[in-house]
Amino acid sequence: MTAKDWQDYEIIAAGDGEKLERWKDVFLLRPDPQAIWKAPFDLKSYKGLNAVYNRASDGGGRWKVLRPFPSEWTVEWRNLRFLIKPMGFKHTGLFPEQAVNWDITGKICKQSPKRVNVLNLFGYTGGASVALAASGAFVTHVDAAKGMVERCRQNARLSGVPEDGIRYIVDDCKKFVLREIKRGKKYNAVLMDPPSYGRGPSGETWKLEDSLYELATLVREVLDEPLFYLINSYTTGLQPTVIKNILSLVMHGAKGSADAYELTLPVSDKSMGETELPCGCSGLWRKN
Ligand SMILES: C[S@@+](CC[C@H](N)C(=O)[O-])C[C@H]1O[C@@H](n2cnc3c(N)ncnc32)[C@H](O)[C@@H]1O
Repeated sequence: MTAKDWQDYEIIAAGDGEKLERWKDVFLLRPDPQAIWKAPFDLKSYKGLNAVYNRASDGGGRWKVLRPFPSEWTVEWRNLRFLIKPMGFKHTGLFPEQAVNWDITGKICKQSPKRVNVLNLFGYTGGASVALAASGAFVTHVDAAKGMVERCRQNARLSGVPEDGIRYIVDDCKKFVLREIKRGKKYNAVLMDPPSYGRGPSGETWKLEDSLYELATLVREVLDEPLFYLINSYTTGLQPTVIKNILSLVMHGAKGSADAYELTLPVSDKSMGETELPCGCSGLWRKN
């Protein structure tokens, strides 16, 4: 599934372990572990390049500015607007490939005769929360990082999403879900995009492959009259069918079916032929 309809974003070229992107008028070069082929030209020498993210030997890294650009700016996708800011861990504050999922799940919300109550776990800067709230859903956005939840609020304001369209929660996702189960709170749809590695509610190490099935099973308990359940993963090596299987198993008995797909972004440079950059995968269970 390729996110094709961006005007303000494109991957100009990719290869040699990096991707050269345009975020509206700003050109960034970031590492990408999937771009293992030879780049069509020397990406670092691209004329308009504004900044390069250089990896450090300790696993971190930093941005090196080559040409001045604003500290933050906005990009538009359809009628939505998102803040972009180069941050630590080579992040920019948005995952453009997710537009595919915003589109599919947004349509489900628009077509529902009732207002859809969505839970967005590991919601980051709110790309999905804003897109779904703009499609008429009521979204509960959960992320452990206060700064990310604040970004979601800013993105919602910029996109003209009504104040009451999103409930903002700064919390550990598992802790929050356990509390919602206790309170008997239900949702019609869930999205989650857990990190590959991280910390659990009591500080224990989290590894997606070891914990995803248990978390997906737990989250299933808050679903009532489910319309969809979407799981995204950026974990290298996790096949889409694994996510599809997890969704089929945890949703067994509900009237619907699961599908899974790789997410990609088109590469503009065609000098070496047509290419797309893989950007993780998603599984989607939806009501029949
Ligand atoms: C891969 S990003 C999600 C991307 C997002 N779905 C999007 O499309 O823009 C992962 C997010 O999970 C959050 N996170 C990591 N561990 C968490 C935890 N235990 N509970 C809640 N949020 C967590 C991080 O702060 C980060 O914002």
